[in-house]
Amino acid sequence: MKVQGRAWRTIEAAQGGAAVAIIDQTRLPFRFEVLTLRTADEVARAISTMQVRGAPLIGAAGAWGLALAARADASTAALESAARALIATRPTAINLRRVVEDTLRLTLAAPSEARAEAARRAAQAVCDDEVDRSRRIGEHGHALLRKLQAEKQGRLDVLTHCNAGWLATVDYGTALAPLYLAHDAGLPLHVWVDETRPRNQGASLTAWELGQHGVPHTLIVDNAGGLLMRQRKVDACIVGTDRVTVNGDVCNKVGTYLKALAAFDNDVPFYVAAPESSIDWTMTKGDQVPIEERAAEEVTHLTGVDAEGLLRTVRVTPEGTGVSNPGFDVTPARLVTGLITERGVCPASRDGLTGLFPERRGG
Ligand code: MRU
Repeated sequence: MKVQGRAWRTIEAAQGGAAVAIIDQTRLPFRFEVLTLRTADEVARAISTMQVRGAPLIGAAGAWGLALAARADASTAALESAARALIATRPTAINLRRVVEDTLRLTLAAPSEARAEAARRAAQAVCDDEVDRSRRIGEHGHALLRKLQAEKQGRLDVLTHCNAGWLATVDYGTALAPLYLAHDAGLPLHVWVDETRPRNQGASLTAWELGQHGVPHTLIVDNAGGLLMRQRKVDACIVGTDRVTVNGDVCNKVGTYLKALAAFDNDVPFYVAAPESSIDWTMTKGDQVPIEERAAEEVTHLTGVDAEGLLRTVRVTPEGTGVSNPGFDVTPARLVTGLITERGVCPASRDGLTGLFPERRGG
């Protein structure tokens, strides 16, 4: 992704591997600020506060957290403790747990004097793999969009929820990767961007990155999608995912399920872009996914810039209002038209998934 003419990844090694550089997503779209993180604790904090966010990106950040921990203390006890702390930051996206556990295993397999380098190489490989997965999801999704556009013979209107773009991954995105490739190839398209309360990832992040790339888009409130679908103004929905279970259920940002219901009722195809790193081969159905409950302030307060360009946070509810803030929901497989993976598009089902990933037949 290019920002102000320079190609960026959302996470990159810094200072020869002694640190990692991230883009502070809590400051976007108002400020583009790069933060340098030097310890596993700093990485864990950045994940908890959502300075880095999005399932593939928090996985990559977790791997870098472990690599920084290994530089400080490569003992088994220290690494296991750092891994536990990183995994505990956010429970819903499977990427974080999977990547940290894999990185820990690879690191512990090396002799102690080689562990820091083994962890650094593992973290870099996680990032490179994730970029490759996203690019291939983009190619498969682009082919799908081409087909839909050929049937429509006009501008394709695609709705997306939350941010499953470049900012949520290491590069390209998952749900947005097909849109970038299609746009670059000249396919006429337009994106309806759900604002995605409470944290407004759509309004702040998706709108920003689509704008940076020049993809035509319109921001809508979360409640408008149903109307637009009834009015035949949406040709397809594409969202990302934090965890797909073996039966094809999809856990994603809260509000996704309501969009899937509206899409189903209006015969609008509903696709989920899902890298293999977001598939939980050990979990049989979506109701088992732990749903993160986040702070009440995310609902009671809003942050933006005032007329002077100053960043301000204001309360929008009566003081003391009781709040529930589940961060994710589960869309049953029956509402999902297909999963766009790095190996192609498949039905959201055990057979569909294992058809593309036969090596996972045994779990
Ligand atoms: O709470 P967030 O912003 O980390 O949630 C992000 C999402 O729900 C994304 O849709 C999901 O991680 C897929 S990202 C490619």
